Amino acid sequence: MAGPLRIGLVGVGQRGLQHVNSLVQLQQEEIVQITALADPFPENLDENKITGYVPDYSPAGVKLFDSADAMIESGLVDAIWFVIPPNQHRGEIERAAKREIAIYAEKPQSLFLDDIVSQDIAITKAGVPSTVGFQMRHDRGYTDIANYLKGKWVAAMTMVAEGGVENHGVKHSHTEEQGGPANRVWTANRAWSGTSIVEAGIHQTDIMRYWSDDDVEWVRATYTERPPELHDTEGDNPIAYTVTYGMKKGGVANLLFTKPARSYYNGRFDYIIWTHGTIKLEDDFVDYSFDEDWPPDEKPTIGEVRKVISAGPHNTAMGGESTRAISEAFATSIVENRPENRLNSFHSSINSLASVLAANISNDLDGEKIVIDEFINDDKYARYRKNPNR
Ligand SMILES: NC(=O)c1ccc[n+]([C@@H]2O[C@H](COP(=O)([O-])OP(=O)(O)OC[C@H]3O[C@@H](n4cnc5c(N)ncnc54)[C@H](O)[C@@H]3O)[C@@H](O)[C@H]2O)c1
Repeated sequence: MAGPLRIGLVGVGQRGLQHVNSLVQLQQEEIVQITALADPFPENLDENKITGYVPDYSPAGVKLFDSADAMIESGLVDAIWFVIPPNQHRGEIERAAKREIAIYAEKPQSLFLDDIVSQDIAITKAGVPSTVGFQMRHDRGYTDIANYLKGKWVAAMTMVAEGGVENHGVKHSHTEEQGGPANRVWTANRAWSGTSIVEAGIHQTDIMRYWSDDDVEWVRATYTERPPELHDTEGDNPIAYTVTYGMKKGGVANLLFTKPARSYYNGRFDYIIWTHGTIKLEDDFVDYSFDEDWPPDEKPTIGEVRKVISAGPHNTAMGGESTRAISEAFATSIVENRPENRLNSFHSSINSLASVLAANISNDLDGEKIVIDEFINDDKYARYRKNPNR
């Protein structure tokens, strides 16, 4: 198609503003044109508020809507970036797909598998381009790891993500008017976020699939619940999460996530074990692996087995560079008809979302092993798939 791609964005909140920032940069390069924004709260569409976050934003040529449906019916957009909280979807993605509008869906695409299947069917039936907002797949260093591991068997991966309640942002949804938390910190609230594993750990889950070129086959999870007397002040999400994934090719992945309050600590620890190596994310991303004739005459020094697979310094894989890169990749994949620019699709991303939703079920069922295909298809999990509000 002839560019620039006409883009509408639904949900001008914390993440939506980050996308507007990237899209404004892509607009300056004439790759996209922002033609519409939608949000039910007028203050979120206010020019002064938006330019406070995105100084280069101009409202010229941008039509404002108070609902996604009005935007979908306007004929003004070729693609929509859906950036609304996961419990707020009411069939908008399905209706946009039916109108042959390309879909960029922020993760988590919903908190309920039945809704995700419905979104997927509509997208697949319409044949529209789609992607899910896993921007870490577009990080240079993480992509170097994925490329390095091509053709190797990943036996084990561990990601530890240490964070805290205070690191959650105050959001732009008026949750206090919508039956949600009074302080607008909806990521600390289970009914809105689906737990931190669903809301945030989905990124780590997805990147482990990307690195290993694999899918999750089963999950077991045990959470440490936050004491009820702290829910009013700290939210009702667990304090700590221990999640184990069995991968289809036989490897095992561990995701450990922590969310205490009042600690203000952020930390990360990762390893990737393949048959003959240990990959570590140091200032450089490195593989410790002896790749000469084995066994060696003498035990090599650690320096002799250390191989740089991606030179630092590295950006924060979740940050602005990868956010811009994923939007650019999606837009150019459509304008230049290069689907290979998209490093996932709505359909291929279902495994990441089903895995984190299944972690919640496993925890509810005392650590039961949940096979992802059974979670998606079997009657015994039907009640966990259903959206009680629809
Ligand atoms: N990929 C990432 O790194 C990343 C980072 C942050 C958030 N997110 C995801 O982005 C989504 C939005 O999160 P956020 O932090 O921006 O939340 P937010 O509450 O700050 O913003 C959401 C916005 O959507 C609007 N909205 C809600 N329902 C709507 C509807 N039906 N139609 C139109 N607008 C609607 C709200 O008014 C609000 O302005 C979530 O799914 C979140 O998990 C992704």
